Amino acid sequence: MRQKIIADVDTGIDDSLALLYLLASPDAEIAGIAATAGNVPAAQVAANNLAWLDVCRAPDIEVALGAAEPIAIPLRTTEDTHGPHGVGYAELPRSVRRLSRRTAAHLWVDLARAHPGEIVGLCTGPLTNLALALRIEPELPVLLHRLVIMGGAFNHPGNTTPTTEWNVHVDPEAAKEVFDAFAAAPPQRRPIVCALDVTETIEMRAEHLVRLATRANSYPVELVTETDPPEARSAASNPIVRYVTDAVRFYFDFHRSYGQGYLAHMHDPFAAAVALDPTLARTRAATVDVELAGTLTRATTVADWAGMWGREPNADIVIGTDPDVFFDRLISRVGDFARTVHPPAAQKLR
Ligand code: BDR
Ligand code: CA
Repeated sequence: MRQKIIADVDTGIDDSLALLYLLASPDAEIAGIAATAGNVPAAQVAANNLAWLDVCRAPDIEVALGAAEPIAIPLRTTEDTHGPHGVGYAELPRSVRRLSRRTAAHLWVDLARAHPGEIVGLCTGPLTNLALALRIEPELPVLLHRLVIMGGAFNHPGNTTPTTEWNVHVDPEAAKEVFDAFAAAPPQRRPIVCALDVTETIEMRAEHLVRLATRANSYPVELVTETDPPEARSAASNPIVRYVTDAVRFYFDFHRSYGQGYLAHMHDPFAAAVALDPTLARTRAATVDVELAGTLTRATTVADWAGMWGREPNADIVIGTDPDVFFDRLISRVGDFARTVHPPAAQKLR
């Protein structure tokens, strides 16, 4: 039985890897993709999702456009982190696939109602569309099999302000609505929250791209370095490896420019891996709420680990993982998938 998944993404370099991970996983069936505004505007997110489906020669998977703006505030995007189109230095071919006729919020509601208890929701962007879906269908916390969220920072600094994580920062009202709604969920349906505390331990490095290319039988096997100029482009024979290399190299450059080293945090593919296999993560239950009023701390996620608020836990927060196990899985799955979709004999010599 393949796990049905709704992927709600703001693609995004690491969202791209999350999608590839799901597409490459034999135990996953992507029931639909919601394009959420965040790293780049929703229309660009949708275009990126469709383009990745083309590059992966994926079957017809529904991609639904999300709201253009967060629930209560103007949209803020971050092209400096993810590149002008959200995929770093990669220049994905424009897709001719069409967008769904329903909105991202309706995609959530319709699919969850059609498959009660069967769908895992994976959110790797702001929670705008899930919050809108909850307004239409408040029973979503029990209709979904499980929800996995990449977002928040608990006992860890923020990556957007000193205390806030990007996805929650973009739409804090939506995040609060989602966490509040899941207060009603039974323990086995509590969202698993992959926050910066753990996702910043998922450090991708140039060697991981070498291993990916090797696994995919892509040639030449390239070692990107921090001295590569921005205009450099991968010449990898395998298109998936080529676009991933160009996308991730931008993310390496971004992290390096903020003094984090020549690496990239793979927040979203880690969340995708947890969505398919929660045993990858050690979790601890807590009550999570989102600060909306603070002048310095607005959009901060606060975890009550000890029940001081007297409220039931509404989240299982990831507190530990083994990054090597995750990277082994990412490289083997996406590498094998890339080699199968674009067999070496059929690859263009460049
Ligand atoms: C999150 O912010 C986005 O820029 C990434 O795609 C990830 O989902 C990390 O804070
Ligand atoms: Ca994201």
